[in-house]
Amino acid sequence: AVTRTFSIIKPDATRRNLTGAVTKKLEEAGLRVVASKRIHMTREQAEGFYAVHKERPFFGELVEFMMSEPVVVQVLEGEDAVKRNRNIMGATNPAEADEGTIRKEYALSIGENTVHGSDSDENAKIEIDFFFDEDEIVG
Ligand code: CMP
Repeated sequence: AVTRTFSIIKPDATRRNLTGAVTKKLEEAGLRVVASKRIHMTREQAEGFYAVHKERPFFGELVEFMMSEPVVVQVLEGEDAVKRNRNIMGATNPAEADEGTIRKEYALSIGENTVHGSDSDENAKIEIDFFFDEDEIVG
């Protein structure tokens, strides 16, 4: 089925002017960008978005990183979008990412790993709603 997922092009990528390169990989993987905006996350947004990780030892570092430079938040649409996006992103740790994936090609470390993608349809909806109003999504 055609579904939606949520993606973030992270600060390590916007800083290196890779917004287009990352988006090209997503499009080549069969995903359509149906909403996109460049934002500079506030602390409130970064902490709220990653609230599920707040007990993790890297939470503080993660929040500081996500606020350090602009990001591009996107809604992606395609056949089985969550899985399709996770396949093209590659493993969280770039050292473990498959050849041809975004993280293999561009990620710097497990923290500065270029992209975020939703891990389930349920979380995709929550994450999309966190950053977008329905009228900003144009399929
Ligand atoms: P993301 O998919 O955005 O969701 C949680 C993020 O936490 C994850 O990508 C990683 O970038 C980050 N993360 C996971 N483990 C570590 C770690 N050990 N140190 C720093 N960041 C981490």
